[in-house]
Formats: sequence, C-alpha cells, structure tokens
Amino acid sequence: MDKGLSRRNLLKGSAAAALGAVGSSAIAKLSASNSSDNVATSYSEYAGTPRTAPEKGRAGANDKLVLGLIGCGGMGAANMRNLMNFADVEVAALCDVDDSRAVQDLKDVEAKYGKKPDFYKDYRKILDRKDIDAVIVGTPDHWHALNLIHAVEAGKDAYCEKPLSHHITEAVGMAEAVKRHNKIVQCGTWQRSTKEFTDAIDYVRSGKLGKIVLCRAWINDGTRLGRKQPSAPPASLDYDMWVGPAEFVPYQENRCHWNWRWWMNFGGGLSTDWGVHMIDIALLGMSKDQDLVMPETVSSVGGRWAFADDDRTAPDTLETIFRFPNPDFALHWSINRDHPGKEGHGTEFVSADGRTVRVWRGGWVILDPAGKEMPKEEAPAPPSHWRDFIDCVKSRQQPRAKLASVAQTTICCHLANAAMYSGETLHWDNAKQDLMGKAGRDTQSYTRPYRKGYKMPNYRPA
Ligand SMILES: NC(=O)c1ccc[n+]([C@@H]2O[C@H](COP(=O)([O-])OP(=O)(O)OC[C@H]3O[C@@H](n4cnc5c(N)ncnc54)[C@H](O)[C@@H]3O)[C@@H](O)[C@H]2O)c1
Repeated sequence: MDKGLSRRNLLKGSAAAALGAVGSSAIAKLSASNSSDNVATSYSEYAGTPRTAPEKGRAGANDKLVLGLIGCGGMGAANMRNLMNFADVEVAALCDVDDSRAVQDLKDVEAKYGKKPDFYKDYRKILDRKDIDAVIVGTPDHWHALNLIHAVEAGKDAYCEKPLSHHITEAVGMAEAVKRHNKIVQCGTWQRSTKEFTDAIDYVRSGKLGKIVLCRAWINDGTRLGRKQPSAPPASLDYDMWVGPAEFVPYQENRCHWNWRWWMNFGGGLSTDWGVHMIDIALLGMSKDQDLVMPETVSSVGGRWAFADDDRTAPDTLETIFRFPNPDFALHWSINRDHPGKEGHGTEFVSADGRTVRVWRGGWVILDPAGKEMPKEEAPAPPSHWRDFIDCVKSRQQPRAKLASVAQTTICCHLANAAMYSGETLHWDNAKQDLMGKAGRDTQSYTRPYRKGYKMPNYRPA
C-alpha cells in the first residue's frame, strides 16, 4: 500500500518517534588492490558466496532489525545515528573504502551496543551477511546504483541517500530493480517527513490556494572549491574503488570526500544535490500522491559563469523551465547567487490569482498578491522519516519517500542538467521512461558507460 503525503496518512502511518535533527554535511598512485576488477555485472555474478537471497523471515513488530552502513563519515552515518535511537534497531557492520572515515562511527556503534561492529572495505561483504536485514547507502552519487541494486538482489531492504543516481538511466533501472525484487526502500529526501513541508503541501493539495500555474524552486550557491593539483591518495583510501564505475581521474583532494558533488563525473552539482529536495516538494504539491507529475519538456541555460578561479565542473548558475501537462503549469528551477527577501533555498507555488505558498527549511507562508501574509493551517508534526523506514520494513507498506517516487524527482533534476549541456529543449516520454528523440542523449546526465570492470545490471522496464 502506498502512503501519500497527506496529513491523514501521516497520522495513521507509523508510530511517531521523537528524533534528533538530521546530523547534517600526482598523478594518483593506484591502490595496490585493483578492486574494480572484482565488481561483477550483477550481485548474482559476484564470485564470492553463491547468491541466494537471505531467507531470514519478515521481522515482526517487536523484532530487531539488523542494519549495515555502506559509506561512513557523512550523511550515511547521520542516518545510522538517527536509526540507532530506536530500540528495535541494531547496527552490525560498517563499510567504507577509506578506513579513516569510519573511526568515529565504529566507536559510536561499539559504545551503543557494547560490541565492536564488523568493518569491511568492500560493500559486498555486508551484502553477503545473512544476519543483516537492511543497508544504509551513504556513498557518493556515482556509487548508489550499484550499491542499491546489488543490495536488493541480495535480499536487503535499504535506506538510500538522494539523489538516487548519477544519471537518468540508472534511476530508471534502480526503480525497476526494487520493484522486481519487491524490496522496501526509503530515500533520503527527509523533507517529506518535516512539518513545514507537509503543512505547505497539504494546503496546496487542498485546493485552497486555487489553480496553481507556476512553481519555483531555488538554491543559492556560494560554494568554492578553489584550485588544487592531483596528488597521491591517502594511505587509508582505496581510491580506485572510490572512483568505482565513474571515469578514472587522478586523486585530487577537492574532488574526493564531500567535494565530489561539484564534479559532474561523480555528482550533478546543485541540481541534483539540492534540486532533489526542493523540486521534490513542488512535484509532491502538484501530485495526488507519491506517483509524481512528470514534465513533457525541459529547457535550461547556465554554466560556470560566476566563479572563475575554481576547479568545479558543475554549473554555478542555472535557469531551467519545466513544462507540465495535466495540470498545465511551469516549474522554474534556479541555481544562483541570491534571492533578496527569501531564504537561500525554497519552493513556491503561485496561483492563477497571484497568491503564493512559499516553504523552506524552517517555515512556510501564504502570501496574498501584494505579498501580505495570510492565515495558514497547521497540523501535528509527521512521524520521523527514519522511524517510517523501520516501520515500513516491518509492515511491508511503502515508505513516505519510496524509491519509485524519488526516482521521478531525481530524473527531473538530471533533465535540468541534460537540457543545459545539450542546449536543446528535451522531451520526456513518461510512459517509456525515456527521452524522446536525440536531444540530451549525449550528455552524461542521461547516461554514460561504466568504467572497465563495472557494469550496470540490466533492469530496463519491459
Ligand atoms: N539527505 C540529505 O539531506 C543529505 C545530506 C548530505 C548528503 N546526502 C547524500 O548522502 C550521500 C553521501 O554524501 P556525503 O556528503 O556524506 O559524502 P561523503 O563523501 O562525505 O561520504 C561518503 C563516504 O562514502 C565512502 N565511499 C565511497 N565509495 C564507497 C564504496 N564503494 N563503498 C563504501 N564506501 C564508499 C567514502 O569514502 C566516504 O567516506 C550523497 O548521495 C549525498 O547526496 C544527503
């Protein structure tokens, strides 16, 4: 059963649990182990343990769920800490290709459960373990598709970070894999479980704002990576495995941990990093449930126009217009420097008569056409995003950010980048889950070949 984002569903959904705030933000000497050679086409072809999905029974309401973390030290670990707040969760194993990133996480897990968790550098070792029910995928975007697809092939449920993928064809394949393996996957778009966003979405969906003709979503970008030279990777890091399926480039400090998001080889810039949060809210507000409205055309202009002395490859400036049918409306996505009088990020819904609902992390307002605040309607806070994941793994209901839905938002974010790089208006065929025509297909936001030794499993929808 699918859970929409309506208040009704929130309240009758999983048990609310108090939860803390999100814990968030040379030429390369190749690593001695050329681990990429071991990464097979699909999990079932992995040369390790013969693959059969773990036969562990479905967890009952009081059973403990045993989790493994893939990707330490950042948002994956923040998710793990949020999940460790629940008495029916235990963390058994951690994995990172960089030992140094796991040190604090290993200590914290040991302090919590009184025993040292196992640590691996190869995520497939976690997937081989029959005692692990679910994994948290907290790796950089270019690894999500392989981590997640291999996890569901190994019989695991997952909490998978956003954006779901490095490019469009991966997102389509991930959704199909989760469907075929019948797994529960909650995605890291936690705004879907946060009061200001659910209040604003409820209001828009109620029809009280009237007919919506325009949505806006934006993020201000002041990030500077500066200039760096390639250097030898740290001894703790298996850099070859970190690059994984992406094109191999030498290690450079400002394109590895955290900074990868501003390199199109590994991430998608702010369109995917923040677009997947703010565009998501616009799509949810304009949809009846988690099956999101999708655009028919997308046009963008932008580039690296603002920061001259910087290594980033992702655009620092972008203006995108999506055109949606049924209902007819436009969505304006913007990466820029500032929005006077507004938060540095947000989403707006504009009605035919000029009223606006604006929402950001921390609040929401309804404005009349003159910009004066109008009375708003509020409801109790929704259950925590992480509790929802655990409850849905147990009940087999769909969580509030189910993978198929966040895949739709992720595709929209990649379309914004693909339209910019192609310089053409792109046409999305939602029935075929593909671009119509040639425009956009030669961008790496649409697809790209995997590096030798890696292959995306074939989950093209029938
Ligand atoms: N939901 C949110 O609000 C939110 C916030 C921040 C980041 N994120 C997302 O979380 C993900 C991680 O982002 P981050 O900022 O924590 O990145 P990060 O670079 O800080 O951490 C990622 C970790 O994954 C490790 N890693 C890389 N490849 C691996 C592999 N094959 N196996 C195991 N470990 C591997 C890296 O060594 C690193 O320690 C990204 O997808 C990002 O978009 C989400």
